Amino acid sequence: MKILVTGGLGFIGSHTVVELQNEGFEVVVVDNLSNSSLDVLDGIEAITDKRPIFEEFDLREKPKVESFFQKYQDIAGVIHFAASKAVGESVEKPLLYYENNLGVLVYILQELKKKQRANFIFSSSCTVYGQADQMPITEESPVKPAESPYGNTKQVGEEIIKDSCKVNPQLKAIALRYFNPIGAHASGKIGELPIGVPQNLVPFITQTGMGLREQLSVFGDDYPTEDGTCIRDYIHVVDLAKAHVAALQRLLKDKNEANYEVFNLGTGKGSSVLEVIRSFERVSGQKLNYKIVDRRPGDVVQAYADTTKANKVLGWKAISTLDEAMESAWEWEKNVRTR
Ligand SMILES: NC(=O)c1ccc[n+]([C@@H]2O[C@H](COP(=O)([O-])OP(=O)(O)OC[C@H]3O[C@@H](n4cnc5c(N)ncnc54)[C@H](O)[C@@H]3O)[C@@H](O)[C@H]2O)c1
Repeated sequence: MKILVTGGLGFIGSHTVVELQNEGFEVVVVDNLSNSSLDVLDGIEAITDKRPIFEEFDLREKPKVESFFQKYQDIAGVIHFAASKAVGESVEKPLLYYENNLGVLVYILQELKKKQRANFIFSSSCTVYGQADQMPITEESPVKPAESPYGNTKQVGEEIIKDSCKVNPQLKAIALRYFNPIGAHASGKIGELPIGVPQNLVPFITQTGMGLREQLSVFGDDYPTEDGTCIRDYIHVVDLAKAHVAALQRLLKDKNEANYEVFNLGTGKGSSVLEVIRSFERVSGQKLNYKIVDRRPGDVVQAYADTTKANKVLGWKAISTLDEAMESAWEWEKNVRTR
C-alpha cells in the first residue's frame, strides 16, 4: 500500500518512513527541504535497504499538490508532518505559520475530499493543553487558549480536520498529540538536525556536549516541582514513529470508532530539565556546562501524558527509557559531527 508522508525527511517523519517501510508499506515522501536535507534519504535507505519515492516541492503551491494527487491516485493514506515548528519564530512571523501549517492542511484535505475513501494522520501537539489543570493529561483535558501562533495552528488544524470529517464520511482521521520527541534511530543514520540554534532541550544539550554551544541555559529552577525545573514527557522518536504505524493500521483496517479520533503520545512519565541533564551526563560520561537563568515567558510548569487510551486502543506503548533516548541522541550527534 502506498502512503504519502509529507515532511518525511524531517525529524519525526524520517523515523516514521523507516517504520512504515519495515512494515512493508510503499512510501512516497514530499518535502521541500526547508528544514531537512537530501542526505536523510540515504540514511533511510541504509537502514531499510529501500529508498522511498521522493517528490521535492513546496506544499504551499496548491497546483503542485493537485498534480501530486493526480499522479499518485493510489495513495491509501496520508501522514502529514510538514509544518513549521519554531514557537518563537511563529510569534515573529504568524502569517508564515498560518499559511504553512493551515493553508497546506486545507489543500491536502481538499484533495482527499475527491477520493472515495481517505485515511489521514495529523501531527498535533500537547501544546494544545497549555498548562493543564491535572496531571497526567488525558485526551479529555480541555484545550486551552494557545500561547503562540504555532500552538494555535495545531488547535485550529484539529478543528479543520474535525469539521471536514463531520461532512465527509469517507474521510477518517486521527490527530496524534505528541509530547516531547527526542532521540534518534539506533543505527545512528538518522536523527534530529536542527538548522541554526536548537529550540529544543535535547539537541541543545548534545550540541553543548560536543562543544558547538558554550553553555546550556536552564530557564528557572524555582518552579513548584521537586528540583524546581520544568517537567516534560520525553518520548523516544522511534516509539513515536511506531505509534504512527499503529494509528494508520487502525484506519486501514476500519477499526476506528469514530471518523475523527485523538490520541496522546507520550511515555506517561515526567522528567525535569535537571533529570534530562543528569541522564545525558550518565550516558556520555561527561559533565555538561549549564547555568540556571531566569524563567522564560510562556513555559508551562509541567506536562506529561496519560497514555491509557493509546496503550489500550492503539495497542501501542512507548518502551524506551530516558537514558536510552539520550544515548541515541548523543550517538547521533557524534556521528553527524564526525562524518
Ligand atoms: N519535534 C517536536 O518537538 C514536535 C512536537 C509536537 C508536534 N510536532 C509536529 O510534528 C511535525 C513534524 O515535526 P518535526 O520535529 O519532524 O519537524 P521537522 O522540521 O524536522 O520536519 C518537518 C519537515 O517538513 C518539511 N516541510 C515544512 N514545510 C513544508 C512545505 N510547505 N512543503 C514541503 N515540506 C515542508 C521540512 O523541510 C521538514 O523536513 C510538525 O507538524 C510539528 O509541528 C513536533
